[in-house]
Amino acid sequence: TILILDFGSQYTQLIARRLRELNVYCEIHPWDKAPDLDDAVKGVILSGSPFSVRDEKSPKPQVEKYKGKIPLLGVCFGAQYLAQNFGGEVLPSEIREYGRANLNFVSEDSLMKGVASNSQVWMSHGDTIAKLPANFEKICSTHDVEFAGFKIKDEATYGIQFHPEVYHSLDGQKLLENFIVGICKCSQDWTPDAFVESTVKALKEKLGNDKVIMGLSGGVDSSVAAFLLNKAIGTNLHCIFVDNGLLRKDEYATVLESYKGLGLNVKGVDAADRFYEALVGESDPEKKRKIIGGMFIEVFDEESHKVEGAKWLGQGTIYPDVIESVSATGGPSATIKSHHNVGGLPDFMKLKVVEPLRLLFKDEVRRVGRSLEIPEIIIGRHPFPGPGLGIRILGDITKEKVRILQEVDHIFISGLKKWDLYDKVWQAGVILLPVQSVGVMGDERTYEKAVALRAVESTDGMTADWVHLPYDFLAEISNKIINGVKGINRVTYDISSKPPATIEWE
Ligand code: XMP
Repeated sequence: TILILDFGSQYTQLIARRLRELNVYCEIHPWDKAPDLDDAVKGVILSGSPFSVRDEKSPKPQVEKYKGKIPLLGVCFGAQYLAQNFGGEVLPSEIREYGRANLNFVSEDSLMKGVASNSQVWMSHGDTIAKLPANFEKICSTHDVEFAGFKIKDEATYGIQFHPEVYHSLDGQKLLENFIVGICKCSQDWTPDAFVESTVKALKEKLGNDKVIMGLSGGVDSSVAAFLLNKAIGTNLHCIFVDNGLLRKDEYATVLESYKGLGLNVKGVDAADRFYEALVGESDPEKKRKIIGGMFIEVFDEESHKVEGAKWLGQGTIYPDVIESVSATGGPSATIKSHHNVGGLPDFMKLKVVEPLRLLFKDEVRRVGRSLEIPEIIIGRHPFPGPGLGIRILGDITKEKVRILQEVDHIFISGLKKWDLYDKVWQAGVILLPVQSVGVMGDERTYEKAVALRAVESTDGMTADWVHLPYDFLAEISNKIINGVKGINRVTYDISSKPPATIEWE
């Protein structure tokens, strides 16, 4: 294990991903809750931070716990903290250094092995290390930053001023590999296969003969979690797949079939009409979400009572949901938005929770899914919100509007697949707008609804940009929609990025 102490940098999760790409297991901890050393810990990384070390309120971690005992690497703020606290001097830079820079000196140190002597690195800091402590030695420099990297003599303690974890630091991964593999001597055995094997074993021990119930959404996370549990406890896993009437066209039937075909013990519950009834006349986005979430819990609760003696609730929670984020104010980061996820545990259910994916990032969930040989049609699925089409029909929801949107969405999504664009897009869908506009079809004047197509690229949904879909593709889709779906006479394409817009419209 590598411990990453988080000081609130936007790049902390990226450090973790980069280590996981090297098949090394790591954990992120808030700097003020740093765990004690044990045999499993092979090294520690101090992240960057929005704080300056000169700031009185800046984080003051107890690095003595680790320093000199196991390898330690400070990045950006972490490096400055080490320099300042062990006898050096950190001053405001004359010019703030953001973005691209090139190394112009690289020492022979093992951390720098294979890093090109003029390698491009990515800087992001307003302070600079003006003086190194006496027992520190410089291991790299750039034109503007003399002490871009340092090491403590006779000790595996390092500091790097630039960000090796960002993709724009071209030899950054090499540097991290040198630290993790060469210096910390981590074995690179954190692979999807190894994860499946150890998780299944642990689940068997933990659950024994107990029954687990779990809500499936058709999405990647809940599916992979269910298949892992299934491998561990077989039919003691009782999955419930609720049709809330707000799924994509034919999704309920096809997903249910494919789950069953793969040997999952799953029960489909068609509750569409109950959801429609509960939603009648409601146009407020938050109220719609609450109604859909509340109804899901009601239906799920009823069904779970039919499973006698169930002790556990399985959930597809993943690592980004559980990391306690550190913000500049010391409280939980304001940028993280929490969503009501399908399968959330209502307190009154009195079940213990089992979350086999709580250590994984999204792309790792997919890798694990592939190692479990779950079909690509499930693994490669775009994210889809729990409230489904309910938050893509602006205004009130009726069965007829759902039907129309399902048709339009189907044309868009199958078009993306046909044009080989589906896997290049992170998420796509259609929004049914509450406006009507005038059109002409044949000799007739029409006055019908408009839709907006949305396709975004993203890595985690926190930020996103619209995808530059080919005009010819958009032309074909627009044509098919207007000619094929009665009630729609206008198609628009959403070209807003997140922020300031969001991916969904509600
Ligand atoms: P926004 O609209 O906030 O969406 O940019 C970010 C990601 O979250 C999904 N999303 C939801 N997922 N329950 C969910 O399970 C929800 O209530 C919900 N709202 C948005 C959205 O589809 C996108 O992937």
